[in-house]
Amino acid sequence: AVRRLAAPDVRARKGKTPVVCLTAYTAPMAELLDEHCDLLLVGDSVGMVVHGLPNTVGVTLEMMILHGQAVMRGSKTAMVVIDMPFGSYEGSAEVAYANATRLMKETGAQAVKVEAGPTIAETIDYMVKRGIPVMGHVGLRPQAVLVDGGFKAKGKAGDERRRILEDAKATAEAGAFAVVVEGVAEGLAREITEAIPVPTIGIGASSGCDGQILVTDDMLGLFDWTPKFVRRYADLRGEIGRAVAAYAEDVRERRFPGPAEIYFAKAV
Ligand code: KIV
Ligand code: NA
Repeated sequence: AVRRLAAPDVRARKGKTPVVCLTAYTAPMAELLDEHCDLLLVGDSVGMVVHGLPNTVGVTLEMMILHGQAVMRGSKTAMVVIDMPFGSYEGSAEVAYANATRLMKETGAQAVKVEAGPTIAETIDYMVKRGIPVMGHVGLRPQAVLVDGGFKAKGKAGDERRRILEDAKATAEAGAFAVVVEGVAEGLAREITEAIPVPTIGIGASSGCDGQILVTDDMLGLFDWTPKFVRRYADLRGEIGRAVAAYAEDVRERRFPGPAEIYFAKAV
């Protein structure tokens, strides 16, 4: 029987083979990614990528549950991790635990991810001790956009650098099975990777991490703007634009549908 990769499998990849991760929000995309990826993240980036929100602050638990269910239906072997949205875990460990178990029960996903600020280690420890695999997320923390005033690379100044390293260490010590490291310079990414015993999953954090993740829609070229760290492996935006323009012209010229595309073409 095929089984999904699980948190201990991902953890055991430290120092061995890179962990391949991408985001997924829908069943058909999850199905396409599943055979190539170790881990699919139902990221709260879904709010910006799919729902047109300006940042991830407006994402709800209900949105994460619906997209988590879709990704679980579409995938078979990848580990599926769901982001805990802003407001669902910061208040207390008890609230975080209740919301994490709801995410897992209602979707079947195997783990949750939390953005790890200074007070979150206690919450991670509380959840892990009660059976919830937790992934951390340090460096650029998109849910902190309103206090940070934008999405900016992190760890340029010395004290910020130390704080991020401390966040990563505290997250790993609290029992996280892996830590996403976002938007930091290569030196800091390598320092974190050497300092913690669980895999670091980089995004905009150099090849010095134990694995990589990108927002799938970014790497497929669905947006006209992407951050510097994204490599575009396809130009789906151009491809879709060409397809839709061709369809529109065919409809206007009455070239679509043709004889092969209608019912009962041969009858009558
Ligand atoms: O929400 C998201 O997509 C993420 C990853 C890019 C790490 O948190
Ligand atoms: Na996220």
